[in-house]
Amino acid sequence: MKKITVVGAGFVGATTVQRIAEKELGDVVMTDIVEGLPQGKALDLMESAPIEGFDVEIMGTNDYKDIQDSDVVVITAGLARKPGMTRDDLVKINSNIVGEVCENIKKYAPDSVVIVVTNPLDIMTYIAMKKTGFHPSRVFGMSGVLDSARFATFVAMELGCSARDVDAMVLGGHGDTMVPLPRHTTVSGVSITELMDDDTIDRLVERAVNGGAEIVELLKTGSAFYAPSAAITAMVESIVRDQHRILPAAVFLHGQYGHEGIYLGVPVKLGANGVEAILELDLTEAEQAMLDKSAEAVKVGISTLDI
Ligand code: APR
Repeated sequence: MKKITVVGAGFVGATTVQRIAEKELGDVVMTDIVEGLPQGKALDLMESAPIEGFDVEIMGTNDYKDIQDSDVVVITAGLARKPGMTRDDLVKINSNIVGEVCENIKKYAPDSVVIVVTNPLDIMTYIAMKKTGFHPSRVFGMSGVLDSARFATFVAMELGCSARDVDAMVLGGHGDTMVPLPRHTTVSGVSITELMDDDTIDRLVERAVNGGAEIVELLKTGSAFYAPSAAITAMVESIVRDQHRILPAAVFLHGQYGHEGIYLGVPVKLGANGVEAILELDLTEAEQAMLDKSAEAVKVGISTLDI
């Protein structure tokens, strides 16, 4: 049985634990800084096992010793965005939290694959790579699966078709500079550029780019967690079941797409050891320019860090 740790027992963390348990991807340890919170949610989830019929252990703890030898660690600890707050406002607070979490991952789960979820995602993933000292193939961020799912949802709503048949591709940073690729977004193999006019596509792209903020505005007291936890679980599944799925993720670039030394969302192959390959798509000039802009925003964020 694989061992999966989820750090942070908030909305994203606890919902992720639920999805992982219901899919029986492994035994789960949920940690949080708040005493009783991970223990209470873990016990509540375990009490759903007789009804849901899953057969994995869920443990809640405040002690990092319990994450010992985890195969996968998901980091959701941090502050969620409040209305009006950009992801970048969170840098200072969340970088301290992620830094502390990563020192413990390095100590207790030195062979793990680490998935970062805490925002601002591309910068937090960079911090996690630096603080763990792990090879970048074992430290990456969840962004593209969520952003693509949002874009796919809006395409399905527009066409009135099943979301299952929509495959979307979104590159770039997890934020206002993300780069949805309509050319590579398909409905049962047919590009949406053949199914919709440019204005409609632009409108859906705009909504996908603002997808996180749209939820924050509605919830008022927190940010999205159902779709994020589904996206995390798909990545965890590809790792623990060694599925080699092709999914967009925030990975460390060393020359791909013309960028070096930063984390940026691109399609990768995900298996038991983490990122097995980075796929390089041929981009149009306009797409490349958008990706460069996104990379620039991430670079500026990283340059403000004191690590
Ligand atoms: N160690 C462990 N857990 C911590 C720490 C820490 N140092 N600091 C905070 N936490 C915990 C909080 O106690 C809280 O339970 O992280 C949890 C965060 O949960 P929520 O506030 O519910 O936030 P959530 O909606 O789950 O989002 C978490 O994911 O999508 C991103 O932008 C989002 O960065 C945010 C993260």
